[in-house]
Parts: sequence; C-alpha cells; structure tokens
Amino acid sequence: MASLIVLAGDSLEIKGLSYLKFLKSIKSDFQGTLRHLGHKHSPVIKFKLMGKQWYYFTTPKAVEYILKKNVKNFSKDFLRSALGPIMGEGILLTEGKRWAAQRRNVSKSFHYKTFSTLLPWITDFTQKSIQSFEDKELDFHFEMNQLILSISTKTFLGEDVDSSQANELQFCVPIYSKLSAQLLRRPFRTPRWFPLPSNLKMKDIERRLTLVADLIIEKRRVQIANGHTSNDALTLLLLNSKEVSQKELQHQVITFLAAGSETTANMLTWTISLLAQNPDIVLKLQSEIESVLGDEPLGLDHLDKLHFTNAIMQESMRIYPIVAGLGRQVVSDDTIEGVDVKAGSIVYVSQFSMHIDPKYWTSPMEFKPERFLNPDKTQDDFTAFFPFSLGPRVCVGESIALMFGKIVLTSLYRKHTFILNPDQKLDHQSDITLIPKFGLHGKLKPLSSH
Ligand code: HEM
Repeated sequence: MASLIVLAGDSLEIKGLSYLKFLKSIKSDFQGTLRHLGHKHSPVIKFKLMGKQWYYFTTPKAVEYILKKNVKNFSKDFLRSALGPIMGEGILLTEGKRWAAQRRNVSKSFHYKTFSTLLPWITDFTQKSIQSFEDKELDFHFEMNQLILSISTKTFLGEDVDSSQANELQFCVPIYSKLSAQLLRRPFRTPRWFPLPSNLKMKDIERRLTLVADLIIEKRRVQIANGHTSNDALTLLLLNSKEVSQKELQHQVITFLAAGSETTANMLTWTISLLAQNPDIVLKLQSEIESVLGDEPLGLDHLDKLHFTNAIMQESMRIYPIVAGLGRQVVSDDTIEGVDVKAGSIVYVSQFSMHIDPKYWTSPMEFKPERFLNPDKTQDDFTAFFPFSLGPRVCVGESIALMFGKIVLTSLYRKHTFILNPDQKLDHQSDITLIPKFGLHGKLKPLSSH
C-alpha cells in the first residue's frame, strides 16, 4: 500500500487502490495504521477522510509548529461534531479570548498543591481500595477507572458529592467516552439528529450528565452563598469566575471528568502492565518508596521527591501515550515543513507513532524509566515526546494526573506486587484514549506472601 504513490522526498499521498486498503486498515486499527506509515514516511502523509483532506505530519518540527509556534492557525473545530453538545463551552474546545479567560481561571486552581487539603482523603480512599483488591483475580483496567473516577469526582466537584450522583457519573462518563470515540472514528459522519441507536444513546447519556452536573453546581452555589468554601475545582471555579453561564459551568464540570479521569486511569493501567513485565523496575520503585516514605503516610512533601516513580510514568506514556494523536483544523492556508496546507483541511500528529519511532529513540520498545532520570540527548530525542501536548494548550491537569499516579503507584507497590494473569493478552485499542484491548487481569499479592 505505502509504496504506490510516493511524493517528493519520503512523503506519501494515499489514493486509488491503495486508498481502499488504507480505509480498511484504519477501520480496524486507526492508530496502528498511522504508526506503521509514520515510521516510513516523512514529513507528511496525505489522505482524504471524513470528507476532508488530512495532512499527517511525522516530525517533531511539525508538532512544534502546529501546537506551539503558530497555534492560532490550527483550531479544534472538527472535534465539536462529537463533543460539542456537552463540552463545547468548556476549556477543552473553546478558542480565542474565551478560551484564554477560561484557561486563566482554571489554571489558578489546577495545581496539585491546591488540592493538598484533600490529600489525606485521597490517600486513605486509595489505600482502602487497594486493600480490597488483595488476592482477588480482578481486571485492573476496570478497577483503575473506578478508583480514579471516585478520586476525580471528589477532587474536581467536592468532597460531599452524594453517592447516587457519584454512581450516575461512574455509569455515564465511561459510556460517554466510548460513544464519543466511536463518533470521532467513523470515516463518514452522519448528523447527530439522525435517529441511529448510537445517536439516541449519546443523547440520553448527555441528558443524564447535564442533569447531575446541574445538581452538583446548584449545591455548590448554595454552600458558597452560606459561606462554606472548600478546595475542590468547582468551588474555586465558581469563586474565580462570577460571570459564567450555567451552560459553561455544566460543560466545564463534564470536561474535567471526561478529560481527567479515563486518561489518568489508562496511564496507570499501562504502567501496571509494564511493571508486571519488568520485576527489576518494581524493585527499584519499591526501594524509592521505602527511602522517601519510610513509615510515614504519603504527604504533600513526599510527592516532589518521587523522581523514579515519576520517570516510570513518563516512560510508560512514551510507550503507551494515552492521547494517541492530536488533530487540528487549518484556519488559513499555511506551510508546514515546506508542505502547503489549505484552510479547512486537517493536520494530524501522532504521539503513538513518534514516541517509539526508531529515528528518535534508541531501543524504543524497551521500558527504561532511567531515560527520564538522566536524559541522554545523544541517544533519545525528547522533542519527539509530548504525552500532554505542547504549547499554550498543553494539558491543564498534568500535575494532577501525576499526583494521582504517584498516590496510586506508591499505595499499590508499598506492600504489594501485581502478578499478571498468565493468559493475559496485551494489545491496544485506540478509542479517544489508548486502552488495553483485553483489560488487565491479575492479582495483587502482599509482599510477605510473595
Ligand atoms: C495521564 C493523564 C492525562 C493525559 C495523558 C492528558 C493529555 C492531554 C492532552 C494530550 C491534551 C491536549 C488535547 C488537545 O489539545 O486536543 C489535554 C488537554 C486537557 N486536559 Fe489532559 N491529560 C491527562 C489528565 C488530565 C487531568 C487529570 C485533567 C484534569 C481535569 C485534564 C484536563 C485537561 C483539560 C481541561 C485539557 C484542555 C486544556 C486546554 O485546551 O486549555 N487532563 N490533556
């Protein structure tokens, strides 16, 4: 397929017969197909998809140009068709001055130190959950999603979210992620009003999420009016931005959960699966936990000292980047890496491809957290690493994701180790985030019985 229409240099345009094969291939594995092509062709691969011209760029220079240097010329418009109805007014999708104002407000509260008062609750809840996993054959992909969604609900929306609302969120958020991923992946778009079963289901989930968001926002408003404040993200948002409409608040609440929960849970799932295959790294992790924490419960001061734990998560996101690729719509005609791109077309870059491209990494499939502890720039090109994106629209929750990650990993590996089920097959599935196709089945064993 790839050899049929080669453009100048190593670039590629996919047309004719090879295009049919390409369509079939991306239908079964979108990210895998792009990775395969991305390692062979540079700087661009051109094809038509969803009625638009796509330019898939495969170099760090192009990534920097699109996400950082000329970011204003690349919009998130094409994500709106799937996510617009309940996230369109939220920070993930707004643009221009509106986004800048939201970003200022959200950034004020989205640092892990803001949530320090919630830390004892989060660690305690995590430890109890982990204790309940002991010696049971479980799907840790499912368990990580439940655990992170519970922690996120309290951190972002308040400690006293009532259990029926938390259960509703626990039910709706994963379905919403799945359905919106399916919508984004369809090669041909059907309008949202068309009564397909998936459209009807999506509408129902959107209605339910909006209803819960409204109830939670209302409760928080009443509490603030009565002089009760706390450090959850919603309270801080309400205090910092008085002129915000109800719709915008709903969309922010849903954005925090949808963008923050599944991503972090999947990062942890992949990390646990990599650790299960690398017992020597687990020993180093346990040695760091012991030297940093000793007998103390995890506190804010420990978080910055967990350097190896942090490197483990970075290396895990290099091999399994949770957001596998980023697409933008071109606002006005532009030139990237010498290639002309037309207004209205889509430019795309892929962490899933670039993070393990042998052009940029030595032994790219080797799980080597030390790369991030003592970076050797003659061996690895870190400009090809952007798991949280780059530039002004870099993930606003990065430090929170890494804080949740450190809490869960230290709690898991302090007194236990995870044993992978010998029948577990490991493969990826690219939904909105990169997930393990067959889950992650195994047992948590206490260290003493190991
Ligand atoms: C391992 C976990 C996470 C990963 C890999 C991740 C990755 C990303 C990436 C790649 C983007 C850019 C998306 C784009 O430009 O289209 C992004 C944006 C964003 N993320 Fe995260 N994220 C993670 C966790 C979180 C958490 C915990 C939150 C907390 C709510 C969060 C909230 C957001 C928001 C609000 C944006 C939009 C920022 C903006 O456009 O200004 N993320 N994230």
